[in-house]
Amino acid sequence: MNKRVAIIGAGPSGTAQLRAFQSAKAKGADIPEVVCFEKQDNWGGLWNYTWRTGLDAHGEPVHCSMYRYLWSNGPKEGLEFADYTFEEHFGKPIASYPPRAVLFDYIEGRIKKADVRDWIRFQTAVRHVTFDEATQKFTVTAQDLLNDREYTEEFDNVIVASGHFSTPNVPHFDGFSSFNGRVLHAHDFRDALEFKDKDILIIGTSYSAEDIGSQCWKYGCKSVTVSHRTAPMGYKWPDNWQEVPLLERVDKNTAYFKDGTSKDVDAIILCTGYIHHFPFMAEELKLRTANRLATADLYKGVVWVDNPALFYLGMQDQWFTFNMFDAQAWYVRDIIMGRIEVPDREARAKDVVDRVAAEDAGEDDYAAIRYQGDYVAELIADTDYPSFDVEGACQAFFQWKKHKKANIMTFRDNGYKSVMTGTVAPAHHTPWKDALDDSLESYLQT
Ligand SMILES: Cc1cc2nc3c(=O)[nH]c(=O)nc-3n(C[C@H](O)[C@H](O)[C@H](O)COP(=O)(O)OP(=O)(O)OC[C@H]3O[C@@H](n4cnc5c(N)ncnc54)[C@H](O)[C@@H]3O)c2cc1C
Ligand SMILES: NC(=O)c1ccc[n+]([C@@H]2O[C@H](COP(=O)([O-])OP(=O)(O)OC[C@H]3O[C@@H](n4cnc5c(N)ncnc54)[C@H](OP(=O)(O)O)[C@@H]3O)[C@@H](O)[C@H]2O)c1
Repeated sequence: MNKRVAIIGAGPSGTAQLRAFQSAKAKGADIPEVVCFEKQDNWGGLWNYTWRTGLDAHGEPVHCSMYRYLWSNGPKEGLEFADYTFEEHFGKPIASYPPRAVLFDYIEGRIKKADVRDWIRFQTAVRHVTFDEATQKFTVTAQDLLNDREYTEEFDNVIVASGHFSTPNVPHFDGFSSFNGRVLHAHDFRDALEFKDKDILIIGTSYSAEDIGSQCWKYGCKSVTVSHRTAPMGYKWPDNWQEVPLLERVDKNTAYFKDGTSKDVDAIILCTGYIHHFPFMAEELKLRTANRLATADLYKGVVWVDNPALFYLGMQDQWFTFNMFDAQAWYVRDIIMGRIEVPDREARAKDVVDRVAAEDAGEDDYAAIRYQGDYVAELIADTDYPSFDVEGACQAFFQWKKHKKANIMTFRDNGYKSVMTGTVAPAHHTPWKDALDDSLESYLQT
C-alpha cells in the first residue's frame, strides 16, 4: 500500500490509531505509511503530566489539563482496552479508580508492546493542514520544535487526534481585574496544597468543579463554594462546602451571587470547560462542535462529512474513553484500508442528523451512557477489534453514578467487575479521602 497517513497527536486517541494499524500489520496486512506528529516530548496526551502551565519550553501552549493527585473519575472497568487488560499489564487485579500515574503506565504499556515509537515524530507541532482538490492530497505543515525547522509533507489521509480538553473556556466576571487573589482556570490547576487553609470559589458544576473542589477539600482547604449557572450538583457535600447561584461580580475579596448572597474568598477557580480548538486546520476542514455525544459534521462520529479522507478521533464528550477511541481507530483504519465503505455525502450528512436527534431524545445521564455504549458497540461490530460486553461496561457506569449519589467522598472506594476478565476489582488499601500519596508505587501496594 503506497498511501501515507498523518495522525495529529499521540494521546490515547492517536496511540489507539497507531495500535490499530500495527495490529493489522501483525496479522499480515499491507498497511499505509503512518506518521504521527506529537508536539510534546512523550506520548499519553493529557495523561502526560507536567508542572508547567501557560507556555512550554518552546513557547507552545501547555497541553496538560491534569493535576497532581488526580484519580480516575470513573471506574477503570468502563475504559479498559479489549486487547490489553489491566491484569495483563499489572500482573494482578488492581482497584477501580487508579491515579493518573497508574493510568499513564497502562496506556504506555500497550503502546510500548506494539513497538511503534518510531512512527511518532515527537516535539513536532502541526501548524497547518490544507487539502488540494486537484491532487486529492493533504499538505501538512509541521514544525520540528527542537531544531526550529518548519517543513511540509503530503498525505492521502489526515486523522486529527489532538484532543478537546486543553484550550480553556474562560468567561469574564465583573471585578476580576481587581480581585485580591488568584483567578485561574482548571486547565492551570496543578496542586491542591496551594489552597490549603483557603476559602475557594469554584465556577461550574461538571467534573472539573466536582473533582477540583473535592481535591482541595481532601488536602485541607478551609471552605469550598461552588457557583452554578444552570443547576447545583446536588451531592451530599461536607459541612464546609456550599452551592450557590451564579457569580454576579467580585469586589476586592468578596464574591456576590445572583440571589443577593456573598462570600469572602481567597481564590477563584473557573471550572468552565474547554473549547474544540483546531487553529492548524484550514477553515473548510475545521471541526466546529459543541461538547456533546453526537458531534457536528462527523459521519459515524469520525469521518468529516465534506471530505471522507479526513477523520477526527475522540471529539465527543466522554463517558467511554480509551475503548471508544479504540473502536473509532479500528473503524477509521478499515475505511483507509478499503475494508469499510463510506456512503455518499447525503447519507453521511443524514447520519449526523440522526445521531443528534437520538442523543437529544435521551432523558438523563443513564440514557447518555447507553447511547455512547451503543455507539461503541456499533463501530466494533464492523471491525476485528475484540468484541466485549459493552452492556456490562454501561452497568459499571450505572453503579458508579449510584455510588456517587450515595456518598461523593467515598465513591472511589468501590470496586467493579471487569468485562474483559470477569475479575471484580479489590478494594484499595486506603480510602480515597485518606490516600494522600497518589504515586504508582503506593497505589500498587497490596
Ligand atoms: C482534567 C481531566 C481529567 C480527565 N480524567 C479522565 C479520567 O479520569 N478518565 C478518563 O477516561 N478520561 C479522563 N479525561 C478525558 C480525556 O479526554 C481522555 O482520557 C483522553 O486523554 C483523550 O485522549 P485524546 O488522545 O483524544 O486527547 P489528549 O489526551 O488531549 O491528547 C491529544 C494529543 O495531541 C497533541 N497535540 C495537540 N495539538 C497538536 C498539534 N498541533 N501538533 C502535534 N500534536 C498536537 C497533544 O500534545 C496531546 O498529546 C480527563 C480529561 C481532563 C481534562
Ligand atoms: N478526575 C478526573 O478524572 C477528572 C477531573 C476533571 C475533569 N475531568 C474530565 O474533563 C472533562 C471536562 O470536564 P469539565 O468539567 O472541565 O468541563 P465540562 O464538562 O464541559 O463542564 C463545563 C462546566 O462549565 C460551566 N460553564 C461554562 N461556561 C460557563 C459560564 N460562562 N458561567 C458559568 N458556568 C459555565 C458549565 O455549566 P452549564 O451546566 O451551565 O453549562 C459546566 O458546568 C470531562 O471529560 C471530565 O470527565 C476528569
